[in-house]
Amino acid sequence: MRCISPAESANDNERMTAMTMDTRIALPTDTEIELAADLLKRGGLVAFPTETVYGLGGNGLLGDAVEKIFQAKGRPMDNPLILHVGDWPLTETVCTPSPLAQKLMDAFWPGPLTVLCPKTGIVPWQVTAGLPKVALRMPNHPVALRLLRRAGVPVAAPSANASGRPSPTLAVHVLTDLAGKIPLILDGGPCQIGVESTVVDVEQDQVTILRPGLVTREMLEQVTGRPVEVAESTLRPLQPGETALSPGMKHRHYAPVAKVFLVPDEDPIPRLRRCYREATAAGQRAAVMCFTEDLPALADCNPYDLGGRHHAETMAQRLFAILRQVDEAGVDVVFSAVVPPEGAGLAVMNRLGRAAEFKQVK
Ligand code: TXA
Ligand code: MG
Repeated sequence: MRCISPAESANDNERMTAMTMDTRIALPTDTEIELAADLLKRGGLVAFPTETVYGLGGNGLLGDAVEKIFQAKGRPMDNPLILHVGDWPLTETVCTPSPLAQKLMDAFWPGPLTVLCPKTGIVPWQVTAGLPKVALRMPNHPVALRLLRRAGVPVAAPSANASGRPSPTLAVHVLTDLAGKIPLILDGGPCQIGVESTVVDVEQDQVTILRPGLVTREMLEQVTGRPVEVAESTLRPLQPGETALSPGMKHRHYAPVAKVFLVPDEDPIPRLRRCYREATAAGQRAAVMCFTEDLPALADCNPYDLGGRHHAETMAQRLFAILRQVDEAGVDVVFSAVVPPEGAGLAVMNRLGRAAEFKQVK
């Protein structure tokens, strides 16, 4: 990586088509945000922080810009993108929300909730992968909101990781995955939430969670006043031939290079120890992911601290970074404690389960 000046990066748009380019990490000063907004408007890509994870943004009204996002990430084109908006009037230009969808937006925006709504004609097919609904979110992060408002266009942004890798919660994670492929990363520090937004579909008066996040089922039910469904496939792999409700669910996700196994015991310490010992004896570099309370008992098992047993929000915040650390340490196999899939725990278990491809130790 070479550091280049803001003036040089004004030419980034022209260089976007090149195979590799210099990638600059910048603090989100007014000048840099202005530059980033300009880059977006002209069809370039910018990685930026949100309260959930870093996003890789492109102008959501330009099919070519959206295609560049898929290329940079190595993402299959059949997996649609979320449009991010910084203000309400823009929302109406890209979708026609039902009264219930509008109610959810009013209650949780700006925030970690993505709502599927029928799209308008100005949304290019590349954003929705040809589907009739578009996913929309107004993120609750000062840098993201400033950038979106300056750009004045809806910004298509998946998580800014290479496809299949854990989502980035630090600017350096984005750099690791996308250096040479994008011109600019705005560094807003660590993401507070750490897992991606809750994705919901709304059909008449039924709300269904397609991807759980920190806007939980219980929080949604308080607003809708009736039961909210959770797509059954959030806690298991897709069956052969099964159609994914949200196309992202059919792709391998959140996966570190290391093999991950879940240890579902109420007291996971004995089995974590045994699995660690057996793997080490078999010549594998092993690790365990455990609760803070269990660290002393597992001190000789190469432990990674997920957070307190009853703090699913902390686990959400740490999980993706830990999966990356495990890989950097060259770990072959990691055994992980689990949390009940309730409240924020559902989002944690959806991501952890998929990182493990839902494998449990025998
Ligand atoms: O927190 C987040 O949502 C982050 C930040 C950057 O906003 N974004 C994010 O985007 O996680 P991505 O692309 O990594 O995940 C979007 C998910 C995928 O599972 C995708 O299949 C689903 O939303 N999705 C997007 N548009 C859809 C649509 N029209 N119909 C069904 N599912 C959709
Ligand atoms: Mg993603």
